[in-house]
Amino acid sequence: MPDTTFEPKRIVVTGGCGFIGSNFVHHVVREHPGVHVTVLDKLTYAGNPDNIAGLPSDRVELVVGDICDADLVDRLVSETDAVVHYAAESHNDNSIADPSPFLKTNVEGTYTLIEACRRHGARYHHVSTDEVYGDLALDDPARFTEETPYRPSSPYSSTKASSDLLVRAWARTFGLRATISNCSNNYGPYQHVEKFIPRQVTNLIDGVRPKLYGDGRNVRDWIHTEDHSSAVWCILTRGRIGETYLIGADGELDNITVLREILKAFGRPEDDFDWVRDRPGHDRRYAIDATKLRRELGWEPRRTDFAAGLAETIRWYRDNEAWWRPAKEATEARYAAQGQ
Ligand code: NAD
Ligand code: DAU
Repeated sequence: MPDTTFEPKRIVVTGGCGFIGSNFVHHVVREHPGVHVTVLDKLTYAGNPDNIAGLPSDRVELVVGDICDADLVDRLVSETDAVVHYAAESHNDNSIADPSPFLKTNVEGTYTLIEACRRHGARYHHVSTDEVYGDLALDDPARFTEETPYRPSSPYSSTKASSDLLVRAWARTFGLRATISNCSNNYGPYQHVEKFIPRQVTNLIDGVRPKLYGDGRNVRDWIHTEDHSSAVWCILTRGRIGETYLIGADGELDNITVLREILKAFGRPEDDFDWVRDRPGHDRRYAIDATKLRRELGWEPRRTDFAAGLAETIRWYRDNEAWWRPAKEATEARYAAQGQ
């Protein structure tokens, strides 16, 4: 265990109106009194200020703006102890339809943030994805570790990999006080309806058959977003500068198993879904070995009962239709145009 602890009083959370960023803001407000959060969010189609509405205004401030806006970023970084960087274009299917915003936000946006952090000596935590490691075969006993070579497959994951490499270079060359985490697939409340679990749940609420890509056997390593938040806080405050930590909770499941669990919750037969066109370049399997994070920092996931977490998430979407309804029609129109 490290013997030094970083105790930030003020943090900037980029993308704090998105899915994982907003769950992290709730986590910090609940678990770490005395920490002030400034959310910097452009409010793209994926950002929703309602995600952080109701949090105390003396603890959380929302600044609507772009992480590529160097003047704005410089001002916010000059006033903070740390930046936790979640903002991104995050959806693989969108990156295949149009990669350009992914290059801009994920690469140039990260560059803008780390330049400001090095100017002002702010601590920087970079939130990334296990997709930078490419994929594994279904029968491969291996899992990703911090030593796995980068081999991203999609425009999205290649821009995330690029941003990770910028951070590594800035840490080594300029002494940027940075840590990086690469996490597996998150689920929980506030996830956009374009993503797998919310899409199927909201389809079923609407009486529409769920849509499964390919042969349905692709494996994702699910983690509750609350466990991702506790891991990021742990790395921000106790992680070693310049280090990468993988975050995962041993939650490997194939897509058809997850879908059948969702169908069961709606009382539907297990084959009541449509097979649709596969995603080009579709990664087969992700799997995280989080030994370093567990051993070195003593982190443990708490929400490891996937069936219970999924049931709670389904309830959240049933109870919060006003939150997801405005995005549903346009999202499904986009999928229909792609044959998905
Ligand atoms: P999301 O799409 O739900 O939210 C992204 C947020 O970033 C939105 O609020 C959006 O408005 C904001 N944003 C986008 N472009 C911006 C810009 N130029 N300037 C300022 N704000 C901007 O994404 P998410 O699923 O919550 O993912 C958050 C982060 O976590 C991403 O970096 C993603 O790569 C990473 N990640 C996601 C997962 C997952 O399972 N979803 C897993 C591992 C890592
Ligand atoms: O692994 C971490 C990554 O997880 C994050 O970096 C990404 O930001 C996040 O979006 C997620 O990427 P995936 O591509 O794995 O998630 P998605 O929800 O898009 O899809 C999950 C799986 O479900 C994937 O195998 C594709 C499949 N799928 C998806 C949709 C939307 C379907 O079968 N049907 C669908 O309708």
